[in-house]
Amino acid sequence: MELRAARRSERDEVLDLLGLWYKDREFFARYNQNDPKFRDELCLIARDGDALVATVQIFDRAVQLDGQATPMGGIGSVFTREDYRHQGVASALMRMAVETLEREQFEVSLLFAERLTFYNQFGWREIGRKFSVLANASALRASGEYEIDVFDPARDLDAIASIHRDYTGRFNVSAVRDAADWQGNLIFAGNQPGEGCAEYFIIACSRSRPSAYARVTRFYGVTMVMEYGYRGGMEDALLTLFQHLGEAATGARCSHRLQGDHRGAAMLTEGTGGAGAPAGVLVTHTAHDKTLESRLTAAGAPVAYHQDNNYMWRIVSAHKLGKRLGLPPDWATARAFELFASDNSLFWSADRF
Ligand SMILES: CC(C)(COP(=O)(O)OP(=O)(O)OC[C@H]1O[C@@H](n2cnc3c(N)ncnc32)[C@H](O)[C@@H]1OP(=O)(O)O)[C@@H](O)C(=O)NCCC(=O)NCCS
Repeated sequence: MELRAARRSERDEVLDLLGLWYKDREFFARYNQNDPKFRDELCLIARDGDALVATVQIFDRAVQLDGQATPMGGIGSVFTREDYRHQGVASALMRMAVETLEREQFEVSLLFAERLTFYNQFGWREIGRKFSVLANASALRASGEYEIDVFDPARDLDAIASIHRDYTGRFNVSAVRDAADWQGNLIFAGNQPGEGCAEYFIIACSRSRPSAYARVTRFYGVTMVMEYGYRGGMEDALLTLFQHLGEAATGARCSHRLQGDHRGAAMLTEGTGGAGAPAGVLVTHTAHDKTLESRLTAAGAPVAYHQDNNYMWRIVSAHKLGKRLGLPPDWATARAFELFASDNSLFWSADRF
C-alpha cells in the first residue's frame, strides 16, 4: 500500500473515490476546485496498485486566538473504500495527516466528527458547544426602519466583508477570511452532501447602507443561519432579518419592506413537514453575543440551546502556538482549549469544510 500526498494528475481520481461517499462527487469537487488554499500536498491518499482506496484532506485555514490569526489545518473528507475498511488504512493516513500538519506549520486543528473515539486515538479532543434554536422567529417584534435586500456580491461584498471583520473578527476561534477566501466561501458555504449549497443571503439596509446580514441554508431539514453580522449597536437590523426569515418560513405576511429578488426564500419552506424541524425554527449560534440574546428575549424570541457533540480540536505545535501567544507551550495549550470551549467563542457553520 502506497501512502502519500496526491499528485495533481490524481485530482479526478480522488474525487471519483469520494464520489462513492453519499454518491455526491460534486460536494467534494466544490471545495477542491474553489478553495483558494487547496494544495495537492494537503490531500493524502492510499493507493493499492491501480486503485486509490482511501483519502484524508487538510483544509488550510486561520482562526483568531487572542487577537492572533493562527494557522489551522482542518481535517475532512476522511474516507476508505468499503472493501478496504478495518485494515488500518484511514488510521495510517490520519497519522500521516498529523505529520503533514506539523511539517506545514499548522498550529491547531479542527474537525467535525461522529466517530469521536476514532479521532481520539490521533489526539483530537471533543469540545462541547451550543447551537441556538429560535423556535418562533416570526413572533419577534423588531423595531427600526430597515429594508431587506438580497445580497449582490458586486455591490455589497466590501460592506459585508467589513461588517464580518468588525463583528465576527472580535470573537476567538472565528475563521479569518481574506478577499480570496470570501470568493471561495461564497461558492461552498453551506455545502452539504446530496443537498448542494444554495444559500439565501439577505441584508438589512438603512438608506441603502447595509447594517446587518444573514446567510441561510437548509441543513438536513433545518433552517440554519450559518453566519450573520451587524454594525455596532444595530441588533435591531439583525432582528429584522430573523423576523423576516420566520415569517417567510411560516408563510406569514412580511412586516418589512423588501427589495430585490427574494425567490431564494423558497428554500425556507422546502422539505418542511418531514423529519426536520418545524417551519419557522431557526438554528444558529448566539452564545457568544449576550447583548443579542437579551435583545432576542426582550423582543419575544428567547433562544434555547442544543448541544453540539461533533466538534473536535487538537494542538499541532504547542511550541509555535506558545511563541505566537507569548506563553510557555503548556500554557498555550491550556489557553487554546479554554478558548475552543468558551461560550464566548464562535466558529460559523459557513466556514465548515
Ligand atoms: C471511518 C473510515 C474512514 C475508517 O476507515 P478505515 O480505513 O476502515 O479505518 P481503520 O481501519 O484505520 O480503522 C477503523 C476501525 O478498524 C479498526 N482497525 C484498525 N486496524 C485494524 C485491523 N488491522 N484489523 C481490524 N480492525 C482494525 C480500528 O480500531 C477502527 O475501529 P473503530 O471503527 O471502532 O474506530 C471508514 O469507515 C469510512 O470511510 N467511512 C465512511 C466515511 C466516514 O464516515 N468518514 C468519517 C467521517 S467523521
